[in-house]
Amino acid sequence: MILQKLKQATKAQHDRLEKVVNLLNDTLSMQDYKHVLLKFYRFYSSIEPKLHSYDLDKFGYKTTERSRLRLLEKDLKNLNLKPVPSWEGLPLLENIGEVFGCLYVIEGSSLGGQVISRHLKEKLQLDINNGASFFNIYGSETGKMWKEFGIIIEEFAKSYQNDQQIIEGAIETFQGFEECFKSTALSFSYENQQ
Ligand code: HEM
Repeated sequence: MILQKLKQATKAQHDRLEKVVNLLNDTLSMQDYKHVLLKFYRFYSSIEPKLHSYDLDKFGYKTTERSRLRLLEKDLKNLNLKPVPSWEGLPLLENIGEVFGCLYVIEGSSLGGQVISRHLKEKLQLDINNGASFFNIYGSETGKMWKEFGIIIEEFAKSYQNDQQIIEGAIETFQGFEECFKSTALSFSYENQQ
C-alpha cells in the first residue's frame, strides 16, 4: 500500500513542517497569518503550473476542483495582500511518479487544514469568506476527497510499479515546503506591503 509507505517515509518531515508553519499557537496574530499565507501562495504559484503540465484528469484526479491556487488568490484579495514572486526551489517534478508523490503531500495537507481552519476561526474570526478558504478547501467533504484520492494513488502505484519514485516526489515536496517557509527572501516583500 503506497499510502502507508508515504506516511511512514515522510512522518519526520511532516512533524518538522508543522512546527515551521506554526499556525496552531495561542498567540497567533493576523500579521503572522498573512505572512504564512503569502508563503503558501509563493509555493503553490510555483508547483501548480508544474503539476498542471501533466494530464492528471486522465488518472481521475480532478485538477480544477483540487486546485489551491485560486483559493489562495481569493484569500490574498480578501486580506488586501499582493501576490509575491513564485518559489524557485524544490520539488522538480520531473516525472509522473514524483508528481503523484507531490499530490500526496498536497491532498494530505487538507486533513491538517481542518484543524487549522477551526483555530483560525476561533483566534482570528477568519473563514472561507474573509481570508481562510485555502485551509478549508473541501469543508465537510474533506474525508470523502481524501478517500477518493487514496483510491486514485493506490491504482496509479499499482500500474506504475515504481514506489520509490513516488516516495522521492513526496520527500522532495516536503523539503521544498520547508525550505520555502524558512527562506527569508519573502520577509522583505512582505514588509513592503505593511
Ligand atoms: C500547522 C500545520 C499542520 C498541522 C497541524 C497538520 C496536522 C495534520 C493532521 C492532524 C493530519 C491527520 C493525521 C492522521 O490522520 O494521522 C495531517 C495529515 C497530513 N498532513 Fe498535515 N498538518 C500541518 C501541516 C501540513 C503541511 C504544511 C503539509 C504539506 C504541505 C501537510 C501534509 C500532510 C499529509 C501529507 C498528511 C497525510 C498523512 C497520511 O495520512 O498519510 N501537513 N496533518
